[in-house]
Amino acid sequence: MFETLKEQPADKILALMQVYRDDPRPEKIDLGVGVYKNAEGVTPVMRAIKAAEKQLWETETTKSYTGLAGDPAFADAMIDLVLGGSVARGNIAAAATPGGTGAVRQGFDMVKLANVGARVFYSDPTWPNHLSILKHMGLEQVPYRYFDEDTRGVDFDGMMADLAKAGAGDIVLLHGCCHNPTGANLTQIQWQEVVALLQKTGATPMIDIAYQGFGDGLEDDAYGVRLVASSVPECLIAASCSKNFGVYRERTGLIMAVSADSARQKINQGTLSFLNRQNYSFPPDHGARLVTMVLTDPALRADWAAELEEVRQSMLGLRTQLASELQRLSGSDRFAFIGQHRGMFSRLGTTSDMVDKLRDEHAIYMVGDSRLNIAGLNTQTVPILAEAIIKVGI
Ligand code: LMR
Repeated sequence: MFETLKEQPADKILALMQVYRDDPRPEKIDLGVGVYKNAEGVTPVMRAIKAAEKQLWETETTKSYTGLAGDPAFADAMIDLVLGGSVARGNIAAAATPGGTGAVRQGFDMVKLANVGARVFYSDPTWPNHLSILKHMGLEQVPYRYFDEDTRGVDFDGMMADLAKAGAGDIVLLHGCCHNPTGANLTQIQWQEVVALLQKTGATPMIDIAYQGFGDGLEDDAYGVRLVASSVPECLIAASCSKNFGVYRERTGLIMAVSADSARQKINQGTLSFLNRQNYSFPPDHGARLVTMVLTDPALRADWAAELEEVRQSMLGLRTQLASELQRLSGSDRFAFIGQHRGMFSRLGTTSDMVDKLRDEHAIYMVGDSRLNIAGLNTQTVPILAEAIIKVGI
């Protein structure tokens, strides 16, 4: 029977990881997949996670099943981190998932269960896996304008005009912060305007937040998600712990469904547990347990927040260095946007030919849409990248 299967398209970001690994050039620079690397090129286990792991090894007495939605303590801790006190806990259903991708998938599954005809409005561009999952699930996709190729900022007028076409029964997929792949983000005023539009149209927002703490700080990065969750009758939120806790391979995420009342919350909670059961039964626990320990122990939490802030500051420093190096070499401000973008990524806004040239002639790897991972740089490689960008003629 399997002779009916066709080759599936490779995920562009993950395929690039392999091409990079196979490149024998010692000077190669990886600005591809969204993984944080320190100045030595290492993705470290965060100090607080390491400490929690040690503690867990000493105290854990069983590996028996948790609940279908994971350990409720994980949901409580993450809801507090993402939503603060913006929504009553009794109105939030939540389930642990395998990473942020699992949360996105379970969220889309819930949408499909509720309304098989839902259209999902997504920012153009968005994380390619959003579209791949939607296509696989057969949900209709509608792009909304987002990135302004000239300014490399948000095309807010275009975005609002397109989102006005979403209505009740549709989903508006938003990035909570640190937009992937562009690095261009909404201001607080723009978030307020988006919320007013959602209230007017009745479309349901779904927010993917995978980089909280990487942009303007833990609280500021949650501004949009908290405003949306406290202003509309219902929304979905997919949160990832991969990046801000550095637990990539542990697959740690949470899907949240916010509703207007506790009766609806009960149904949503049952739905999320049901969906977990259908797909993999119990979600992975190890990473979720570590995150819970870090968030609920004041000393571990303070150390984690401090290390995350160091990471954020180092990325901001690299942005500033790259923007000024490019200003010096080009004699213009046309790369100033790199200093204004936030999060792990910036989209250069150049052609895939130029991206290929950077790879072939300079051993510099970035995603074909010209997304570069700022965290793949260090102070020594920034001038090398800047020179290469000017040399290939971007
Ligand atoms: C990325 O966008 O590079 C990361 O989110 C990793 C992934 O799974 O694609």
